[in-house]
Amino acid sequence: MNVMITGATGLLGREVFRAFQKKEWNLTGTSFRRKAPGLMRVDLSQPDTIQDFLNSHLPAVIVHTAAERHPDVSLKDPAGTRRLNVEATAAIASWAASHGTFVLYLSTDYVFDGTQPPYRPTDKPNPLNDYGQSKLDGEQELRSHAQKSSVILRVPILYGPCETLSESAVTVLADQMRRLTEPTLTVEDWATRYPTYTPDVAYTILQLVEYRLSHPDFHGIVHWSGDEALTKYGMARIIAEQIGFPVERLVPNPAPPSGATRPKNSHLDCSVLEQLHIGRRTPFTEAIRTVLNPA
Ligand SMILES: NC(=O)c1ccc[n+]([C@@H]2O[C@H](COP(=O)([O-])OP(=O)(O)OC[C@H]3O[C@@H](n4cnc5c(N)ncnc54)[C@H](OP(=O)(O)O)[C@@H]3O)[C@@H](O)[C@H]2O)c1
Repeated sequence: MNVMITGATGLLGREVFRAFQKKEWNLTGTSFRRKAPGLMRVDLSQPDTIQDFLNSHLPAVIVHTAAERHPDVSLKDPAGTRRLNVEATAAIASWAASHGTFVLYLSTDYVFDGTQPPYRPTDKPNPLNDYGQSKLDGEQELRSHAQKSSVILRVPILYGPCETLSESAVTVLADQMRRLTEPTLTVEDWATRYPTYTPDVAYTILQLVEYRLSHPDFHGIVHWSGDEALTKYGMARIIAEQIGFPVERLVPNPAPPSGATRPKNSHLDCSVLEQLHIGRRTPFTEAIRTVLNPA
């Protein structure tokens, strides 16, 4: 079976690619700016390129992780964000619908406004920023072209094995502590987050694809998330203990972050996947220890 993973150089895509390599599938991973062994470089923001690429690889399954996922970048470049997050998704969905291909699309808790958690997949989205809107519009493209042959998986803030600590909004806290020249580090203590470990999400995606292969009617929106509620300050305290940074040098900031507007608490209800016994959660302290102290 031909399986394609877009964004296979990304924080999540790398783990998905790694997890899928354990299967006997014919795997194609795509990248854009980064080169990596075994991956093919393709610019998904060019619709013609997408069609040609898909026609030459004919995937039966596409896991579409590639996206612009930084809300502050989307705020500055909404058109570029839409080309990748909306138009590329529409092109992939349209090709998939006409070739009987299953698409698993990664989306975000930022489709919600964070005022009434926890959010079920059927709850009404109301994104607060361009990034959340673009991911929601990507969802809608998928549903309008390929509703019955797709699954939308929403996840919250991710962290995991990284090329640089600044790659994730979680591990960047360790980077800030290590580089600190001031006596204290002020850390946002406003939004409640549910940090989610990329190897767990990759494992969940693999389970979802296998479930779909044995249940061809399975489609729609599902959620997966870690289950520990932490603000950035709460995460920073745990990270500080792991890297030997004095916790008393961390100062909580109760104000919302600057830049793109964010939801205060977009906790995802994961009961649909829990009932199917799909999904895995590694405790935050254990997972972040592995990430910060790689073997
Ligand atoms: N990270 C989070 O906290 C988070 C939270 C919720 C949802 N998500 C969702 O999870 C998915 C994966 O996010 P991530 O954190 O892994 O993102 P990421 O680390 O920023 O990776 C983005 C990927 O997209 C590729 N890409 C960028 N522009 C491209 C283009 N024009 N053509 C083709 N590929 C392009 C990148 O390739 P190169 O690097 O090679 O250029 C990279 O592989 C996204 O759909 C995101 O919306 C992420």
